[in-house]
Amino acid sequence: MSKVRDEYKFDMFLGMSKDKKDAPFIIDYEPPKGEGKLIEFKNVKKVFNSNKNKFVALDDLSFTLYNNENVALLGANGAGKTTTVEMIIGLNTPTDGEILYLYDYDFNFQEEIGIQFQDSSYPIGLNVCNIIDFMIDVYNIDITKDEIISVVTAFGLHEYLKKPAKSLSGGQQQRFNILLALLHKPKIVFLDELSTGLDIHIKNEIRVFVKNYCEKFKINIILVSHDIEEIENITDRIMILQNGKLKVDINKSKVKKYAKSLNDLFNKYI
Ligand SMILES: Nc1ncnc2c1ncn2[C@@H]1O[C@H](COP(=O)(O)OP(=O)(O)OP(=O)(O)O)[C@@H](O)[C@H]1O
Ligand SMILES: [Mg+2]
Repeated sequence: MSKVRDEYKFDMFLGMSKDKKDAPFIIDYEPPKGEGKLIEFKNVKKVFNSNKNKFVALDDLSFTLYNNENVALLGANGAGKTTTVEMIIGLNTPTDGEILYLYDYDFNFQEEIGIQFQDSSYPIGLNVCNIIDFMIDVYNIDITKDEIISVVTAFGLHEYLKKPAKSLSGGQQQRFNILLALLHKPKIVFLDELSTGLDIHIKNEIRVFVKNYCEKFKINIILVSHDIEEIENITDRIMILQNGKLKVDINKSKVKKYAKSLNDLFNKYI
């Protein structure tokens, strides 16, 4: 077998074909007109040291997030999506480069960030209602009782308000986690596989509700997803990471300039 063939096989084993690695960079993003910058990544590098081996998870990553855009942050397993998100929310620090937070906040940039946690480690003994009350207290959220009821109902959780949060099913916990990420109306919300795993009836309702809620309260969405319908419905900017590098950064409206369809673009890069 030729050397090229062997390399190709090895790349396939790593989950990324040579074609995908060699695909050209497409950096062609036009921010919404007149909108300010929210967050800036300047040559951010993240190197993990494990067992004396160095692993470059993010490689010279530079981009700017603007107000009034919904971003799809995409990439194959291990591409660096979670590391990027952890960097933004302050759970991880860059090895090199810097991250600038350019929006207004009172005490801490994290106040203006919402996160849909995957891990639902709710405190024992607290019901859904207690946790919502706790969030309202901690973030000093300005919300009426009617508004709370309408949000809880939109997420299909009104029947479970008095249930211990720990006893919710997987899909119910997922819906509750999205609600908790949005309740304090942050400037930016990170949604991780928003509707994956939810049943078909609630899936679309949640997407529509989240999109409208975020539009109404001017919340910018960063969506990490593999669900093309979700990406299609919610986002307007497509960012694709490959081995810690930003390979694609375009307006969704420009996809046809570079590929036959969104699906075709993903096949080329993910
Ligand atoms: N603490 C760590 N120590 C060593 N390597 C790490 C650490 N955290 C992440 N990595 C490596 O960095 C790379 C990027 O990981 P990351 O979790 O950001 O990928 P991802 O794009 O979120 O993937 P997935 O789709 O699987 O969630 C991976 O190769 C991962 O093994
Ligand atoms: Mg991840």
